[in-house]
Formats: sequence, C-alpha cells, structure tokens
Amino acid sequence: MSNVVAEAENLKRYYTVNQGMFREQATVKALNGASFSLEAGKTLAVVGESGCGKSTLARLITMIEEPTDGKLLIDGKPVRMGDAELRRKIQIVFQNPYGSLNPRQKVGSILEEPLKINTGDNAATRRQKALAMMERVGLRPEHYERYPHMFSGGQRQRIAIARALMLNPKILVLDEPVSALDVSIQAQVLNILMDLQQELGLAYIFISHDLSVVRHIADDIMVMYLGKPVETGPAEAVFANPRHPYTAALLSATPSADPAGEKHRIQLEGELPSPLNPPPGCPFNPRCWRVLDKCRETEPALEGKGDHKCACFNQMEQPSG
Ligand SMILES: Nc1ncnc2c1ncn2[C@@H]1O[C@H](COP(=O)(O)OP(=O)(O)OP(=O)(O)O)[C@@H](O)[C@H]1O
Ligand SMILES: [Mg+2]
Repeated sequence: MSNVVAEAENLKRYYTVNQGMFREQATVKALNGASFSLEAGKTLAVVGESGCGKSTLARLITMIEEPTDGKLLIDGKPVRMGDAELRRKIQIVFQNPYGSLNPRQKVGSILEEPLKINTGDNAATRRQKALAMMERVGLRPEHYERYPHMFSGGQRQRIAIARALMLNPKILVLDEPVSALDVSIQAQVLNILMDLQQELGLAYIFISHDLSVVRHIADDIMVMYLGKPVETGPAEAVFANPRHPYTAALLSATPSADPAGEKHRIQLEGELPSPLNPPPGCPFNPRCWRVLDKCRETEPALEGKGDHKCACFNQMEQPSG
C-alpha cells in the first residue's frame, strides 16, 4: 500500500511580465521543473535563497495557482482548480503570523471559522473542537476569548497552525513558518510541529531559506536554485555528503552541529541572477568556485544512482556504488 499523499513530476510555473523601457513581454520561469513524492508522516524540506521559487511551489501544491506544465497529484488525484474537497486536504501556514490572523477575531472564532464554512458542526461541537486543538498546540483554554494582538509571535504561529489543522488536512505546507521568530522560540514551534506530525500522520512541505532550521525535521531535502532543484535526497545523505557546490555553500553558512568539527566557510560571491535572464549553462555557474568550461555551455541534469540526486558536472562528493 502506498502512503504517497503528493506527487509532482516536472512541475512548472511561468509568469508573463512586462519589463524594460518598452514594456516588452518576458517570461519568468519561477518554477522550472520540480519532481518529488511525499508520504504521510514525512517532511520534504524545500531550501534555497530568496526568489528561487519556493513560494511558487507552495502556491501550486495548495491549489492557489495552476501549474503551467507538469504533473501534480494530491492524494492520488490530479489537482483541478475549484476541487474544494481536494483543496481541504492541504493547508498552509505562512511566515508572518501577524498578517494572516484577523485582528478583530478572537482565537476561538478564528479556529471555528473553517468548521462554520465547511461542516455542519453546531456551536457546541465547534467550541469543543477548537479547545481540543488549542490544547494540542500548547494554548490554554483562557486564550479562546483573546485577540491575536495579545499574543507573542510564537503563540500566534501556534494559532495559525491550529487553524490549519481544524479540517483534518493530510498535507501542511509550511512557508518559512519560524523565520520571523526568535531563535529560542523557533525550537518550540518546530517541536510542536514534529509532535503533531507523529500524532496525526501529517505530511509536511517545509520551506526555508536556512538549512539549519530543517536539519531535525526533514526526511527529504530539495535544494532549489533559480526555479530548479539542484540537489535532492534523504536529509542525512544531503547533510553528510552535499554534492552540489551550492548546497555545500548553504551548509557552510549554517551553525555547525559539531562545534569541534573543522569547517571552511564557503563565501558565495555575487547575487542570484534574475530569473528573467538566467545565465547559459548551469544556472549556478557565475557564482561557482568549481566551475568548468562545460558548465558555462551545458545545463547539467538532476541525476544520481540512488535517491540522492544532483545537477552538477563537478560534484563535491562523487556518487559511490
Ligand atoms: N505573480 C508573479 N508574477 C511575476 N513573477 C513572479 C510572480 N510570483 C513570483 N514571481 C517571481 O518568481 C520567482 C520566484 O518567486 P518565489 O516567491 O516563488 O520565490 P521564493 O523562493 O519564495 O522567495 P522568498 O524566499 O523571497 O520568499 C521570483 O523571481 C519572483 O519575482
Ligand atoms: Mg517565498
């Protein structure tokens, strides 16, 4: 029996924009071919710098936008805009818990709204479900009557997570869920997310620009660069043996788990190129310190013998076996 709850194959999302003095039309390949398979109870971490297409991927998975091309199955069904039943199985939590909670609504009413709209639950049942979910995410019963502004950032993020879970989704898309929080609070929210995943068998798509944030929560990693995955695989393999120079650079920028371990900090030169005008060859070549002539002409494919794959002609760790 397959536990796969989401499957993507060569998923793409392009945008047409007007640019330049004459407002010429141009195409932004915000997401340019992502493939993955996500199982119940597992976390796929999507990592990369600003503008690499992480939120675009989130909008496709949550069915806010339609793919330009490629295959996307949720719970075994092809996504179709307006499929409300399928849409309900996927919920999203955003980075900014201030903007996503209505300041005029009390916590109880925020949590009960999805039930009001989508179920026939009566007021007593809704209240009971809201209180039960509050307990799950570590909020106290007296918080039911309070407004969002009375909470800290971490507590607000708990409210947002609770709201996302009210309709028993299968997939939670977490778009930088702890990036706005103090480091001390980040671990608390991550622990709650891991507990909830265990109890409820949730599948997570966890988006972050910071590899260290996903170290403990990720089962699989997808490192993105300019709209494309450049390295994918089991989290342990990617952390232990990063193959793409870009992954190695991201890793070297994160605090080491082993403070005694020798670590050479790799300084990434230059800015992320514009996705409107990607460089020829490997998209990373203008910033890569291992660049070969070939990299400036030909784009490497995402390849690997097992499930650890990398798109690079000059990999850090040669795939073994
Ligand atoms: N609606 C849109 N129209 C035109 N371009 C867009 C649109 N949405 C996103 N883009 C472009 O697509 C690229 C990917 O954007 P996206 O928001 O997915 O990146 P991201 O990885 O989430 O970045 P961040 O870490 O800053 O949130 C960017 O170059 C962005 O400017
Ligand atoms: Mg984003």
